[in-house]
Amino acid sequence: MIGPYMRKQMAMIGYKQIPVWYPTSKEIIDDFERVGKQFRISRFVPNIPPLYDWIMGFYERLSNRSALKGPVFENALEIIDVGVGTGYLLHQLLKMTKDGQHITAVDLSPKMLTNARQYIEKQNEPSDRIDYYQVDCRKMVWPDNFFDLYVSSYLFDLLPEDEVQSAISEMARILKPGGMAILVTMTTELGDVVGTKRYFYRLMNELYCFGYRGGRWNPLWQFMFDGYAPHCRPIAFGGCLRKGPGLKIAYSKLSRVSLFPVRIYYVIKTDH
Ligand SMILES: C[S@@+](CC[C@H](N)C(=O)[O-])C[C@H]1O[C@@H](n2cnc3c(N)ncnc32)[C@H](O)[C@@H]1O
Repeated sequence: MIGPYMRKQMAMIGYKQIPVWYPTSKEIIDDFERVGKQFRISRFVPNIPPLYDWIMGFYERLSNRSALKGPVFENALEIIDVGVGTGYLLHQLLKMTKDGQHITAVDLSPKMLTNARQYIEKQNEPSDRIDYYQVDCRKMVWPDNFFDLYVSSYLFDLLPEDEVQSAISEMARILKPGGMAILVTMTTELGDVVGTKRYFYRLMNELYCFGYRGGRWNPLWQFMFDGYAPHCRPIAFGGCLRKGPGLKIAYSKLSRVSLFPVRIYYVIKTDH
């Protein structure tokens, strides 16, 4: 009944690697600059709280919290959070660490850095252990073997393909041997998901990519977020990490952002 073409198409459901919306980080950052400013909807509804933080930040919380469950932070004295965005993960890191542990907060968008800083300041907790830097994850300014822990959520899955590998190389360079990375991305890597859950997640990926690729949802986003387009898309990030120099995936687990599958990777920089 079903021809080979259809069979091939069905086997691809949920596993397609689609290109990111914009060709380079530069255009992506221009978009984050916009979303960090005034939302179009706030012209009609005054004093609206930051919508991006509410909508995106809210859905990302589950996976951000899950990412920081498990690993031991005590030995990590120099910690870096790359692509701080809303600042939610940064705040979780602040809560989970103590005096003597220093956190470097990085984003390429000055506006998102300001957003993250304001979010942290609103929490009314001592935050002098955090320093903020506007730096590109592909051209990090720190020396080799500097950080004990590299943390990043929803950054690698918004980078264009050719930029992902250079960001991974920079991560490997600045991590100390034996240092660890905790990385969260939307995922097509569903090999360990069993039964109907795997079909469900594959369908969700397909649905997400359908809207993303065709831009069919964009008019709504354009209205609400002043032109901001969603960038993160499901990727096979484990495959990219395995190509990284001296990196080993110690463990990975599944989470979700809204109804879409997300993978959390715990990566160790080996001595060689
Ligand atoms: C989806 S947000 C991250 C969310 C964040 N981890 C949280 O907890 O809310 C992605 C962030 O990555 C930043 N970004 C994008 N490209 C970058 C690059 N090349 N270098 C550094 N940051 C970048 C964006 O400005 C944006 O703030």
